Amino acid sequence: MKSLSLKEYKEKIALIEKLNKAYYHNDKPLVSDAEYDRIKNDILNFEKKNPKIIDKNSPTKKVGFTPSEKFSKVKHLVPMLSLDNAFTKDDVEDFLKKIRNYLNFEKDYPIELTAEPKIDGISASLIYKNNKIIRGLSRGDGEYGEDITENLLTIKDIPQILQGESIDKEFEIRGEVYIGKKDFEKIKNDFANPRNAAGGSLRQKDSKKTASIPLKFFAHSVGDIDEKKFKTHVNFLNFCKKIGFKINPLTQTFSSIDELIKGYHHIEEIRSSLDYDIDGIVYKVNDLALQKRLGSLSSSPRWAIAHKFSSEKAITVVRKIEIQVGRTGALTPVAKLDPVNVGGVLVSNATLHNQDEIIRKDIRLNDTVIIQRAGDVIPQVVEVIKSKRDKNSKKFIFPEKCLCGRPAVNDFNETSKKLDAVKRCTDTGFNCEFMAREKIKHFVSKEALDIEGFGKKIVEDFWLLNFIRLPQDIFTLDYKKIEKLEGWGELSVNNLKTAIDKSKDISLIKFIYSLGIRHIGLENAKNLSRYFISIKNFLKLCNSDLLMNEINNLNEIDGIGETQIESLVNFFKDKKNNKVVYELSKILNIQDFVEKKIDSFFSGKNIMFTGGFSTMSRSEAKSLAETLGAKILSSVNKKLDYLVIGLTKPTKNKVDKAKELGVKIIEEKEWLKLSRNSRTSFS
Ligand code: IVH
Repeated sequence: MKSLSLKEYKEKIALIEKLNKAYYHNDKPLVSDAEYDRIKNDILNFEKKNPKIIDKNSPTKKVGFTPSEKFSKVKHLVPMLSLDNAFTKDDVEDFLKKIRNYLNFEKDYPIELTAEPKIDGISASLIYKNNKIIRGLSRGDGEYGEDITENLLTIKDIPQILQGESIDKEFEIRGEVYIGKKDFEKIKNDFANPRNAAGGSLRQKDSKKTASIPLKFFAHSVGDIDEKKFKTHVNFLNFCKKIGFKINPLTQTFSSIDELIKGYHHIEEIRSSLDYDIDGIVYKVNDLALQKRLGSLSSSPRWAIAHKFSSEKAITVVRKIEIQVGRTGALTPVAKLDPVNVGGVLVSNATLHNQDEIIRKDIRLNDTVIIQRAGDVIPQVVEVIKSKRDKNSKKFIFPEKCLCGRPAVNDFNETSKKLDAVKRCTDTGFNCEFMAREKIKHFVSKEALDIEGFGKKIVEDFWLLNFIRLPQDIFTLDYKKIEKLEGWGELSVNNLKTAIDKSKDISLIKFIYSLGIRHIGLENAKNLSRYFISIKNFLKLCNSDLLMNEINNLNEIDGIGETQIESLVNFFKDKKNNKVVYELSKILNIQDFVEKKIDSFFSGKNIMFTGGFSTMSRSEAKSLAETLGAKILSSVNKKLDYLVIGLTKPTKNKVDKAKELGVKIIEEKEWLKLSRNSRTSFS
């Protein structure tokens, strides 16, 4: 058989993408199964002969076209979060330090941690009622998962009926679906790696296809379950075992960092002998009461971390240094490399972070460099091999201008009293077309409008075709024109239209977040929503007469400091930004912020803390107050209901002002008593 040229190989990949889209997305196969297999085989044969130039879009690297609209979306009982990463012993120490600080424990207070392998699979949530499985969901965006019950039921390790204990109430177990390495051998020609095989198989339209691939499952975490049933994570894992789940046999508990790191290296050594892929060790606080106290940030719990295995390295050459402009105007240099295989993945880009990094490592065009890639982290240049440098090579000169032509500057950082390492475009919004495009990508993304199927690639395509310039253009797209584009059809256009229409119902939090204002992430979008309550109030920021007055009031919101305020002023001083916000407010149905109704003493009360406490850190006190339905203020004013003072160094000014305004002052002891009583009244 004649082998393909590189050009033919790329063409076949593009063809397979088109066929996949027609098959999965439009339900209209364009060729017979046999013809499809022939094309895929040609691609495979080429890759076997040229393992160094496997294209990232190759079907062997992908799980097929995601047929997500085939599965209905279901809200998770509690959000499915991800894990923060640690790469070094220092990172792990830092993780423990933060935990101790948060809990107000002594520096060396022993904290028992479990250490279990991080399975490189696909997470799933399983819901049981009256001892029977009633639903199985994928992670989805963490808030909504896809109902993949039928497919999960084909997995032998997932019990359909629980053994031993009888639990009538609904409860949830979470874990990882994976494929064994030996089993993967049999199907390796169809997938890039075992993880993709598991993902592809789980999301098959036809559960018979899932059943034909031998998937396995390890239970690893509590979902929605009555935690009072267990004291520790280990108790929970043993319970899982008792009712019929498999738990990872390598799980251990440790109380010192040295033991932890020893355990980590041991597993790293035996990693290749395991029959499943792992990419690190997950450390979790064993005591579930402490886990509950620690709680979570927006996307990861404070009580767990993934200690990733050391990264894989490779040597290659920097052919070009390109500048990319992010949604907040940051200019990020990216090295375009000769493609090189790093731990099974073809890498052709590496981030160079910023100008300082290029200067520090003295990275130049045509330099031979060592690059590294750890898990899902963007590849980086570790160092330049100077001995291989051309004598005539010149230092890289970082541009003084953004790609749009506007000047780019390093902001002055008030906290560090230094210039920021990052250069930014001086535009404040959508005038810089490079920033605008990134802002639209952010606008449609999962945590923002979450327009299903409207990914970065579609934003790029529609931008090039001049279909979109501002976020609101998404709602006036000409679907007739899109239908005529290559790769689109009636069905896919209908799906897009449905997804866009669906995205119009949005909470104030997500709306504020979707604007992509610098320093306003999900957490601050929530803080602002809690303050503004409705879009009508938020729109006052768009009125130049009201802006500064409104801005001054934001000072009292916890989490909104000088940095955020400066960024909000910059954003709302820009006329185009105001127009975007205003236009969107007319198109979208933005729901008011509703505080979760919590029946507690502190519900709806404004609280402020000052001084150090003996039983908990200030951060814990704040999040406890929030879970009790209170609002944290950051300045003493007449809206404040309680000023809680700790024993050590409460700020005198604050106490005096509270007295002057008649704000109730309570001491730590009373706060504890009241919050404890409040807690029992709702838990
Ligand atoms: S515990 C709050 N334990 O890693 C999340 N996760 O990046 C608690 N994972 O999506 C998860 N092995 O599905 C936990 N032994 C393990 C795990 C594990 C793999 C996955 C998990 C999650 C991802 C987080």
